Amino acid sequence: MTRVRHRRHRHVIAAVLGASTCASVLALAKPARARMVLDEDFRTVQPTFELTGPALGGHGNPTTDAPASLAGSTIALLDGGALAIDGDSGQLVRTDDAGKVVARLDVGRGAAQLVYDAGTRRAYVADRLGDRVVVVAVSDKLVEQAAWTTPVEPWGLALAPDGKTLLVTTIADRMLVAIDTAAGKTRWDRPLSREPRGVAIAPDGDTAMVAYLTTGTVERVDLAAAGHGGTHVSLGAEIAPSRQSGVAPAVTGFIADSTPTRSFARAAFAVRYVGNGLAVVGHQQSTPVQIAGNFRENAGSYGGGFDPPVEHRIAFVGAPEGSAQPTVEARVILHQPDALGWDPATDTLVAVGYGSDDLLVIKDASQATVALANHLSITGGCGPDGVAVADGTAWVWCSLTRRVAKVDLTGATAVVLGPEATKSKRSALEQRGLALFRGGNDGRVSSRGAMACTSCHPDGRTDGLSWRIESHELQTPLLAGRVAGTHPYKWDGGDKDLTQSLTSTMRRLGGSGLSEDEVRALSAYLESIPAPPTPRRDAKQVARGQKLFEGALGCDTCHGGKRMTDREGHDFHTNLAKVDTPSLIGVAASAPYYHDGSAATLDALLRDTATVHGMADVGDLTDAQIADLVAYLETR
Ligand code: HEC
Ligand code: HEC
Repeated sequence: MTRVRHRRHRHVIAAVLGASTCASVLALAKPARARMVLDEDFRTVQPTFELTGPALGGHGNPTTDAPASLAGSTIALLDGGALAIDGDSGQLVRTDDAGKVVARLDVGRGAAQLVYDAGTRRAYVADRLGDRVVVVAVSDKLVEQAAWTTPVEPWGLALAPDGKTLLVTTIADRMLVAIDTAAGKTRWDRPLSREPRGVAIAPDGDTAMVAYLTTGTVERVDLAAAGHGGTHVSLGAEIAPSRQSGVAPAVTGFIADSTPTRSFARAAFAVRYVGNGLAVVGHQQSTPVQIAGNFRENAGSYGGGFDPPVEHRIAFVGAPEGSAQPTVEARVILHQPDALGWDPATDTLVAVGYGSDDLLVIKDASQATVALANHLSITGGCGPDGVAVADGTAWVWCSLTRRVAKVDLTGATAVVLGPEATKSKRSALEQRGLALFRGGNDGRVSSRGAMACTSCHPDGRTDGLSWRIESHELQTPLLAGRVAGTHPYKWDGGDKDLTQSLTSTMRRLGGSGLSEDEVRALSAYLESIPAPPTPRRDAKQVARGQKLFEGALGCDTCHGGKRMTDREGHDFHTNLAKVDTPSLIGVAASAPYYHDGSAATLDALLRDTATVHGMADVGDLTDAQIADLVAYLETR
């Protein structure tokens, strides 16, 4: 048993923000002063729950019949217990009411979401690295009934209200697949933009919403229409409409736009419909360039500014009827609101902070009277990545401690932590490293703890943004599969080893730094993240691309060997004197390309339309050869 910490809304926010604005103005007037570190905790400048505009929604509690399986999670409720999928061990577990395991089944390491169909007592689990959905009969035992092959890297799941169709998002192949659950056959599929994650179906079954890590949008999919067309809906209140209108930015994902103070919605893992036609989306808002010009004050810091360049939000996305497709956002205190649960009986929304081990209880979630009801903490380094809500209790899956936590939403009783449900397959060092990697509110990692490593490298990948660092805008590199054996680090190759790289990263982030042991743990974790799965491509085309890569073009003179890098710096006459050859492992997942993010796609890079020229002579390539090379690169 662990005591609940119960925080009330703080009223010091305005005062602290005022002070920080003053500091910026002062510093602008005197650019030669020493770097300034503001060390108040991030939580003192971020409101607990504050709407950025008038609330959407209706009046009164909608009497929606909305099963939890309309959106996947890592935990689902059953009679007398829960079902949870642990991505670390790859095990599906059934627990009793106290969180003790009563049955288990191996699904596969890296497994992502599950949904539970109470009608048929079947669970569906996304086996992310096995490219299948595993169908499990749930009784006092867990029995694998079937496994349905999917496109590469299934992650998000949602079950239609009638239980007859399962929607699956697949990351590497960028597809949305609808599976007929009776026949186990694909009904239809359609392409998605890059880095899709969660998917949710509306209670009426007519629309679905897909969340993305790097598009700045959620995509509303019309399930009733032939072709299952989609519309991208912008997240992030400050985003200029011209940039985010239509599908184009979502598809290209090209963000080398260094307009100061422009902010971008990122890292939307979780989406769920509530009542009155609203959908809620947890996301982050990043401001990669805060200050214009060659501003040297605080020179080394990411974003080049003073205000935390990352904040966390819950978007309320309105129904498409009505002209403007309104969206209203709430700034929230949670660090990385990556999972959402909703209890239709009470219209209570629960959002969990993966990086801060806490949860927000929001009452009247689908009504104009939406308001904060509670902010509760879970102790013990939980790393919550899933939540299910019923009868005034949130059941949370603690991904880092692999336990169920039961939280009384009134905060009146203590949080009940179940026993360890599965054994981690990570080493103790890697586990410790992951805990540091995702941890927000840690002043050792970043100024005020505003940023965690996952703020820019969600899921070990890239936010697709170019951050102002000193006088350059540098693109966030992909880490998954690219860290071990690729030293030196950073685009300019300035850091000879990982210890030096992480030390300089935390200094730039304004953090006070971690101990040597902790840096070792973080390094061990970074080196253990597997490379992203690669999309399926035609084998003959890949072979033709490889021939070009290794033959006439001589790409492998620099991108050779197992890690696909010579680990040398090269001068391509850009604003960096030399750029360290990046590894091309997982390159399909690392867009945009080049140190400044100036190539939106591999196709654009090979057509030499970016700011970097002279890497190799690509001027004579035909369209077919470019397609072959892209296919080869995408499968690395
Ligand atoms: C504000 C966004 C941001 C945050 C937060 C962040 N990074 Fe990065 N990361 C970047 C950018 C941008 C670069 C490229 C910087 C450069 O080349 O100078 C980078 C580079 C790296 C590299 C070098 C990769 C290579 O192949 O050269 C590693 C390793 C890394 N980050 C790990 C981390 C870790 C660990 C943390 C947490 C302590 C972290 N990052 C926090 C944006 C971020
Ligand atoms: C002379 C060494 C050299 C050769 C030859 C070379 N590259 Fe590169 N490559 C680099 C360097 C250095 C960068 C980083 C440049 C920058 O960002 O400014 C890079 C960047 C890239 C990137 C972007 C990676 C990312 O994550 O942003 C891709 C893709 C790539 N190269 C593919 C190729 C292909 C395909 C060829 C052959 C047509 C090739 N390279 C030939 C050195 C080389």
